[in-house]
Amino acid sequence: MTDNNIIDGRAIAEQLHRETTERVKSLEAKGCRPGLTFIRVGEDPASRVYVGMKERMCEKLGIESNTHVLPETTTEQELLELIQRLNANNSVHGILIQAPLPAHINSAKVFETVAPAKDVDGFHPVNVGKLMLGDDSGFVPCTPAGIHELLIRYEINIEGAEAVVLGRGNIVGKPMTAILLQKVRHANATVTLCHSRTRDIAEHCKRADILIAAIGVKEFVKEDMVKPGATVIDVGVNRVDDPQAKRGYRLVGDVDFNAVKPKTARITPNPGGVGPMTIAMLMRNTVPAAEMSTK
Ligand code: GUN
Repeated sequence: MTDNNIIDGRAIAEQLHRETTERVKSLEAKGCRPGLTFIRVGEDPASRVYVGMKERMCEKLGIESNTHVLPETTTEQELLELIQRLNANNSVHGILIQAPLPAHINSAKVFETVAPAKDVDGFHPVNVGKLMLGDDSGFVPCTPAGIHELLIRYEINIEGAEAVVLGRGNIVGKPMTAILLQKVRHANATVTLCHSRTRDIAEHCKRADILIAAIGVKEFVKEDMVKPGATVIDVGVNRVDDPQAKRGYRLVGDVDFNAVKPKTARITPNPGGVGPMTIAMLMRNTVPAAEMSTK
């Protein structure tokens, strides 16, 4: 396989940002400035970083952003009331509640309180249902939508391909499966979803033309689990202690990148693969959210 087989998520995200910026400008010309509101509960260090990155990207693209930082002790009722106020506020087009939430808060209840038309994360049951049904009028979760966009823009054949998704989470694994199996262009894959109770995951992986790892186990995908010429997408962000590193840890993906890379047709690096695409899709989702509010 070629050496130059990296999927450059940063470059594709830049392309998307340019497209989004144009759409933001044309909305502004009609007197509507897209607005995105973030809610972060508690001080989870990763969540602080992610929300900070999303805020900065909003500013760069001309999207108005607003962040509510609530203490760890916030009750579920207080959070639900804030969401209801934001639902009723016409200048708020998109609402994003950064996960994970503290354990005393029922995340499902929180996500279903967001108005579906403002649910740029695509977590509301209405949007989850629309994705499953193949109704493209809803919002699609940003990470799997970003992976789909990478596959499309790198012209990776999805039609009839064997796609194996590792991990059945609501944010990545399940919606990823729903995207790839639809009976539409750029989908029509045969999808296998593997999880912690799957017997012999390696056997499934070895069949995959497209292997998407979102399992949360560092370097889980080894070289001998990958079919030669496969496309491998690494969603994992795992912290590994590293006394040499400035912060005392480093981030490692779900794929043993150096060993797997030579065997693949295409592979995402980590960082610089899926991460930038998640933010790009969030920014892109905010545009139709704002457009809907003008109708
Ligand atoms: N936490 C990890 N990924 C995500 C995401 O895509 N959206 C939100 N809101 N929280 C997350």
